[in-house]
Amino acid sequence: MSASNNNSSTQPLTISIVGAGIGGLTAAVALRHNGHSVQIFEAVEIKTEIGAAVTVQNNSLKVHDHIGVVRKNLRGLPWEGAVMMGSDGSEPVTYKWQVPGMEANGLLVHRSDLYEELKRLATEIEGQGPPAKLRLGTKVVACDPETATLTLENGEVIQADVLIGADGIHSVVRDHVLQQVVHSQDSGLSCFRLIFETTKMRDIPELGWLYDGVVGTRSVVSTEGPLRMLYIYPCRDGTLMNVVAFYSDTSDAKAGWSGHATVDEFKTVFHDFHPKFFYLLDLPLHSPIHKWKLRVLPLLPTWIRGRTALLGDAAHATLPHLGQGAGMAVEDGGALGCLFPAGTRAEDVPDRLKAYEELRKERGEFIRAESVDQMEKGFDLYKNKELQMKLLAYEPIEAAQQFYQERFAGVN
Ligand SMILES: Cc1cc2nc3c(=O)[nH]c(=O)nc-3n(C[C@H](O)[C@H](O)[C@H](O)COP(=O)(O)OP(=O)(O)OC[C@H]3O[C@@H](n4cnc5c(N)ncnc54)[C@H](O)[C@@H]3O)c2cc1C
Ligand SMILES: *[C@@H]1O[C@H](CO)[C@@H](O)[C@H](O)[C@H]1NC(C)=O
Repeated sequence: MSASNNNSSTQPLTISIVGAGIGGLTAAVALRHNGHSVQIFEAVEIKTEIGAAVTVQNNSLKVHDHIGVVRKNLRGLPWEGAVMMGSDGSEPVTYKWQVPGMEANGLLVHRSDLYEELKRLATEIEGQGPPAKLRLGTKVVACDPETATLTLENGEVIQADVLIGADGIHSVVRDHVLQQVVHSQDSGLSCFRLIFETTKMRDIPELGWLYDGVVGTRSVVSTEGPLRMLYIYPCRDGTLMNVVAFYSDTSDAKAGWSGHATVDEFKTVFHDFHPKFFYLLDLPLHSPIHKWKLRVLPLLPTWIRGRTALLGDAAHATLPHLGQGAGMAVEDGGALGCLFPAGTRAEDVPDRLKAYEELRKERGEFIRAESVDQMEKGFDLYKNKELQMKLLAYEPIEAAQQFYQERFAGVN
């Protein structure tokens, strides 16, 4: 979007983003393109995305296209459809997408491929606007949302025009925006996350259920006993196979990685699944098996205060059953770009953030709630055209640009 340069003294905004996850980086790219001066504060010293994959569905792909993500760098596979199976080995059922004109729903991508591409776009010297400054190993311990001031662990204090809390489900910025600590809720589920190499896959005929038919996801749902589900799809040009293995877990671990796991632990939990599914384990593991506890956030009364807003999991951490958590973080980041074009004045910031909340909160919360309901609805995403339309036919950039026009055009 171009600047309205009526006011030639308008300075670019200074923007602090807490968290260099998929959401924080997307926001950084969109905002640097508008000429703003962006700094990203990331707690970890060496940030790499964990060894697992992510679905980049069409709604978030539209934001990626808009901010210049080079598709081939994602090394993604088109998500043509879903195959659902029972754990007893009964006949698979294939579902194609029901959105008119949609051959494939976006791409199946390794997280680190997406992360590296977003980091490149945010920080490279080339490209529109000043490169965002990524400060690794800078943990934010407190902030003042009214003045967009944050404090780092080393005592350094940084003030900006805007502060974005993209710091994930355990967000520190959120505690200050809400002026209380909001605890995430136990979903009763954990998962193992495994990544296999596929070089020998097609030599194993017993693994035909994995590669015959549409390119896409394979869901194997328990037909007896407590809820368990294998959710499997390829990534990185088909060289890797990503497995998320969900199971009921009543232990009270914090959300996120709860450490490494072994093949034996996996086998114990899924022991009654049909033997053909265990041929997966004949493929070489690409990276260590992780265990992950799934938690969600309760509805928040607000996402904003003063000059500060929450984005992504910090605002609406969801369950993965719609594959839209990162997608919503990406939509949030894209929307911020549309609401803070070049020429935005520092005094405009609080109103723009109110608009951001008005534009985004309902959708973020819908996906959070619906992802939880998917468990009771027997994972009906693939059968539910109305839900697919709501998720995938949405135009995040157009919606945000239109909202901006209606609300602010001619104001600058
Ligand atoms: C099993 C599983 C499968 C999933 N599959 C999909 C999928 O297929 N599709 C999809 O769209 N989504 C999926 N998701 C959801 C997706 O992973 C998240 O919604 C998404 O990564 C959230 O991004 P974010 O940038 O908001 O937060 P995060 O990725 O959590 O990033 C937050 C960043 O902030 C940093 N940070 C935290 N605190 C501080 C601090 N105090 N100071 C500085 N930095 C800090 C962290 O180190 C981190 O780098 C899945 C999630 C799970 C668990
Ligand atoms: C969705 O994305 C896929 C993969 O890029 C693409 O082939 C398809 O045309 C897109 N569909 C729509 C309706 O945008």
